[in-house]
Amino acid sequence: MKFIRCKNYEEMSRVAANLLEETIAEKPDAVLGLATGSTPEGMYAELCRDYKDGKVDFSHVTTVNLDEYCNLPVEHEQSYRTFMNVNLFDHVNLRKDHTFLPDGNAADLNAEAVRYEKLVADLGYADLQILGVGRNGHIGFNEPADTLFVDTHVTALKPSTIKDNSRFFASEKEVPKRAMTMGIGTIMKAKKIVLMASGSNKKEALTALYSGVADSMIPVTFLQMHPDVTVVFDEAAAPERKN
Ligand code: F6R
Repeated sequence: MKFIRCKNYEEMSRVAANLLEETIAEKPDAVLGLATGSTPEGMYAELCRDYKDGKVDFSHVTTVNLDEYCNLPVEHEQSYRTFMNVNLFDHVNLRKDHTFLPDGNAADLNAEAVRYEKLVADLGYADLQILGVGRNGHIGFNEPADTLFVDTHVTALKPSTIKDNSRFFASEKEVPKRAMTMGIGTIMKAKKIVLMASGSNKKEALTALYSGVADSMIPVTFLQMHPDVTVVFDEAAAPERKN
């Protein structure tokens, strides 16, 4: 695992954007695994700026997002499809029909999870997967649990995640209670992973990356078993090395 310590959120965003652009430079038709949330917003802004400046070309890129809320209309301002449109897709030359998210409004959610897993598998999984991390150590919406799902699945959000995400909604009541997410296995099959973290509430989760233990109660710790992970974090999130 490679750890890159950045001064602040802006530097973290720039470093992550560089890693993503390097992947596209090496492989113009790369499959990018994308995340939503506050953490990658700055990185997306950097990518939009670089596209405008002619530094990056998304025309052959395909994207697969980690997750989507269930039963939130896709046009809702907090759906992850809307987030991706607003933060990236509407501003760069990505083909919209090359951008994929799970359909959280499918009539048969379990069938949709199987379809999405197959879609990602048929694309050969992500060349680079961007991840944020929850305060409780979740990645995607793989929440702490006794056992973790390998493939894309529907999951109930933990009360702490609902509380954290309520900042994006008018009230906690409006936060969807379920989401569809890539599984730990889907994420681990990405060729490269870039985990981003900013702020002191992520420090504990990053510190667990030094534990040497894959703990399903801190799902991010499973990344210790992946051969190519870069952790990009700011000062406030800097892990404490305990060993
Ligand atoms: C988002 C996702 C989540 C977030 C995590 C951190 O697609 O899968 O795991 O990365 O909840 O969220 P922020 O960045 O808002 O702190």
